[in-house]
Amino acid sequence: MNRRQFLAGGLAVGSGLLLQRAGGLSYSAYAADSRIEVLLGEEIATINPAIYGHFAEHLGGVVYDGIWVGENSKVPNTGGIRNALVDALKRIKAPVIRWPGGCFADSYDWRDGTGPRAQRPRRTNFWADSPEWPKNAPSGPWKFDTNHFGTNEFLRFCQMSGAEGYLAVNVRGLGAQQFYEWIEYCNSPAGSTSLAERRGGGESSSREPFGVRFWGIGNETWGCGGNLTPEEYATEYRRFTAAVPRYGVDLKFIASGANVDDYNWTRGFFSKTVEKNRNLFNGIYGWGLHHYAWNLGLGKTNDWFAAKGDAVKFNDAEHYELLREADRMESLINQHWTIMGEYDRQHRVKLVVDEWGAWYRPGSEVAPTHLLGQQSTMRDALLAGLTLDTFNRHSDKVVMANVAQLINCLHSLFLAHEDKFIVTPTFHVFEMFMPHMGAKAVRAVFSAPEVQYTRVDKPAEFWGLSGSASLNGKQLTLTVTNPHLSEVREAEIAVRGGRPTAVDVRVLAVPDVHAHNTFENPDVVQPRSGTAMMARGTISCRFLPASVTRLQITVA
Ligand code: AHR
Repeated sequence: MNRRQFLAGGLAVGSGLLLQRAGGLSYSAYAADSRIEVLLGEEIATINPAIYGHFAEHLGGVVYDGIWVGENSKVPNTGGIRNALVDALKRIKAPVIRWPGGCFADSYDWRDGTGPRAQRPRRTNFWADSPEWPKNAPSGPWKFDTNHFGTNEFLRFCQMSGAEGYLAVNVRGLGAQQFYEWIEYCNSPAGSTSLAERRGGGESSSREPFGVRFWGIGNETWGCGGNLTPEEYATEYRRFTAAVPRYGVDLKFIASGANVDDYNWTRGFFSKTVEKNRNLFNGIYGWGLHHYAWNLGLGKTNDWFAAKGDAVKFNDAEHYELLREADRMESLINQHWTIMGEYDRQHRVKLVVDEWGAWYRPGSEVAPTHLLGQQSTMRDALLAGLTLDTFNRHSDKVVMANVAQLINCLHSLFLAHEDKFIVTPTFHVFEMFMPHMGAKAVRAVFSAPEVQYTRVDKPAEFWGLSGSASLNGKQLTLTVTNPHLSEVREAEIAVRGGRPTAVDVRVLAVPDVHAHNTFENPDVVQPRSGTAMMARGTISCRFLPASVTRLQITVA
């Protein structure tokens, strides 16, 4: 069945239907141009809440100024950690936070960030020489790390926020023995080891073990993490994970996976691993994948610097182009998954998309110390919506994802400087999508007129509506993104295998897609209630231009 037949069928079902709203207002569904069919009987998998995870690197203003303000700061804090951030993370039930990098991880010696703070060494940050620093960036811990924010501070931050820590191990610079000892430091019981004693010292002391489960074995080992070949990395991975202390913790190792569509990386690692022993796949919880939407070169350039666009000033083509770039996630997941399955036939290894988001050129950061800091507009909310929906749809494959990065950086949920703190439109998407966490993803079929736009003087197309659905008890959650900059989509929604009895709608939409929240105007973009009509088991809903919508449907 093609889209035209599907729509025709859908309209026939709705033909002549008079839809009623509680208040007595009514309208007919003749205007519907789109259709969404939710198939409750077609379960995909339980959506791992960790798909809604985060990433915090010692990079620019993420840690210093973002998370860590210090105990003596006038910014409200608990043990040096910004209270407003902790409160906001609790609001969205942040499941997991990855730290300390990124590229920083493979230059980081975790021992530097332990013990009394005054005695910790100051080290040159991996990013100190980045060409992307704003010109007037002063020196500070973002360039020469004081190590005041170390393992205990990070894991306390996670505990306060209700999240689990996911630690990225230095494979390039430290050895397997230091990895062994980092686990010992974090997880050995009080009184058992000297490292447990060290954990119990210093200002952020913790007598109790942290019980860290997630360990990333290197970061981007094909690049900043060592410039290895996939075969070399497969050897390193085996060496690092061959023997580590467990202390009854179910350790989950995440291997450093591919950059975007580098399928040779996935093939090389998996083929080398299977060559040694197929059972080694039992010891790999996740295979990483990094994908940023950054290339707005429109085919004219793919240069890393020249092809990036501005976070706030963009034209229609750049809007659609960025979403198209982000939308590659679906095929990346499918393609890497297929290759993984050629070697790991039972698919014991799942995907962990531990870096994703939009990446713009410098210029919109809220403070000069925020390297790679950028504003976040409604366009970024759409990007987040379509990406999270993609993960939901692939919940049988993706067990964790970490948006890059938490605060004051690339696709951030938060912006902060000194005592100022705001949430971005992307935060609202995360909050709206919360009912998906831990729910059972079910298949939903979307049919809508495609977006037509002009790409370098040639016609181009992008899908008209997309989203995901999940069921938790009697509550069906349907999230939908309309990328069109000017057109409303009128959709009929049919729920197969259940009877809708009530619907609640929440919408994130603003008249101008460039809109964003600022310290002066923090609520320019925020969600509000919407409406949908329901009659004889069919729901009708208008999806506003450039919007993310959540429907919560009670099904009998
Ligand atoms: O998120 C910024 C950087 O992007 C990370 O440090 C690195 O892993 C990736 O290339």
